[in-house]
Amino acid sequence: MIEISEIKKILNSKLTSERYAHTLCVAEEAAVLAKRYGADKEKARLAGLLHDICKSDNRDSLLQMMREFGIIPDNVEEYAEKLWHARVGAAFCRQRLGIEDEDVLSAVRYHTTARAGMSLLEKIVFLADYISADRDYEGVQEIRTAVYAGLDSGMRVAAAFSMRELIKKQRLIHPNTVAAYNEAMREWVTVNRLRSGKSI
Ligand SMILES: [Fe+2]
Ligand SMILES: [Fe+2]
Repeated sequence: MIEISEIKKILNSKLTSERYAHTLCVAEEAAVLAKRYGADKEKARLAGLLHDICKSDNRDSLLQMMREFGIIPDNVEEYAEKLWHARVGAAFCRQRLGIEDEDVLSAVRYHTTARAGMSLLEKIVFLADYISADRDYEGVQEIRTAVYAGLDSGMRVAAAFSMRELIKKQRLIHPNTVAAYNEAMREWVTVNRLRSGKSI
């Protein structure tokens, strides 16, 4: 198993200084959320550290790694280059760093789109990326509050925010994000129905 100090060295050499600082903040936030929501703190810190490992790679390098790792972009990824670093990042962690923990690899892979049926660790890394200490975009406080109220409310608010932003910027929405949003909404609607005593 590769040492954390070795991973940090690799991250420091691959990422811009701003992205490296973001990575450290996401790792920290993921560890805090893991403690709060009963996940493995060290795994959360590791997945947080690794989530953007290929984010500073240029287009050519990402394309080359996709070929090398046998990644075939789906029909949304083909038109949404911002999604590439997550799939390539997970493959890089497996092939180049020898990371074998499937949950950690999935947390890296789905940190951008999310998906339905996410594990605790996947949700934690996805949400830590939204609310880490370095984040100061408009709306971050609403997402922070939702995440600290519960991971499911965090998923509902963050997936909705992500889709609104993508529409505003005229970008494609990955079906995994829609699936994550619908899953969180089903949960929320069900809870509200139970509270109000309605059966449907
Ligand atoms: Fe990312
Ligand atoms: Fe990130």
